[in-house]
Amino acid sequence: MFSFFNPTRIFFGNDVIKDNFNYIDELGNKALIVTGKNSAKVSGALEDILSALKKLNKEWVIFDEIKENPTYDLIEKGKKVGLNENVDFVIGIGGGSPMDASKAISILIANDFLSVEELYNGDYDVALPIVEVPTTSGTGSEVTQYSVLTSMEGKKAGFSSEVNFPDVCFIDPKYTLKLSKALTLTTAIDALSHAVEGSISTKATDISDLMAKESIKLIKENLMNSLDNLDNIKYRENLSKASMLAGMVIAQTGTTLPHSLGYSVTVKYGVRHGIATAIFLPNVLKKIEKENPKKLNVLKNVFESLENFENFLNEVGIFNNLPKLKEEDIISFSNTVIKSSHVKVTPATFTVEDIKKLYLEVFE
Ligand SMILES: [Fe+2]
Repeated sequence: MFSFFNPTRIFFGNDVIKDNFNYIDELGNKALIVTGKNSAKVSGALEDILSALKKLNKEWVIFDEIKENPTYDLIEKGKKVGLNENVDFVIGIGGGSPMDASKAISILIANDFLSVEELYNGDYDVALPIVEVPTTSGTGSEVTQYSVLTSMEGKKAGFSSEVNFPDVCFIDPKYTLKLSKALTLTTAIDALSHAVEGSISTKATDISDLMAKESIKLIKENLMNSLDNLDNIKYRENLSKASMLAGMVIAQTGTTLPHSLGYSVTVKYGVRHGIATAIFLPNVLKKIEKENPKKLNVLKNVFESLENFENFLNEVGIFNNLPKLKEEDIISFSNTVIKSSHVKVTPATFTVEDIKKLYLEVFE
């Protein structure tokens, strides 16, 4: 038995905003645009959204203060702007951080008695309509019910709610053409982690596995080419497609142990999310290969062996320039990870000692 639910209307391809902006029309009269300082402008996505809003005679207000790994105070600030301005819907433009922030803000505006902490309890059932426009190809947030935020104490964690699914997303690969080599790599590797982690998850289904396989294949065949030809739209299109598919995978399965291992490394040591996650894949997968080898079928369908997969990760350079972790941090990170829900959906047994070992093996 399996089920499949993804209510987001997806538009994918060149000029999708210009050709389909009428789908915004029914969402309300005034939009809160949630974004960071740069990517929405540099990519051309903001210009396309503003031109669509003008044609539809909509009003808008821009909240452009979202930073990487958005903290609770920024979410509260966005909520205040939205409430003061009486907005009817929210548009997130950017990478995972602005998109995740926009989803959280849309719930908080619709439930103004809630605090950011309370988003994690799931005690709400409405949000303002959400539109997402990704300017990277990694997070998949444009097609998921997740939002990952960072507390003021530095704890990065996601919450999940069906009201978090965007109503509409516009994925135009040309918005990723100006991404640097480093961001192209770290975001594509995040998407790869989503597809691989989704395929090993105990929640994987026949449908999610089909999408995971295609996503892994697209990244295998296009990432290196894209890194060598940053302005090639065909490679960009394939990475955007891979990221969307991987997002649709984790919308069904959630992520597994590597994501949980990576969160603290990102917050405390500044290692970018995609890299901080994927560096753990080979050793987690080796343990699964021993205990539950069938769970590697999707990955091996594309890469043939775990060794080939590890070589690919080495070739694209994700293990370069990693920081040294302090021993006390490894202990505290491991104690957090062992309690995370990700452990339960990872198909092998991991004790807190195994988790410490996973940190030590990568950061020795
Ligand atoms: Fe991720």
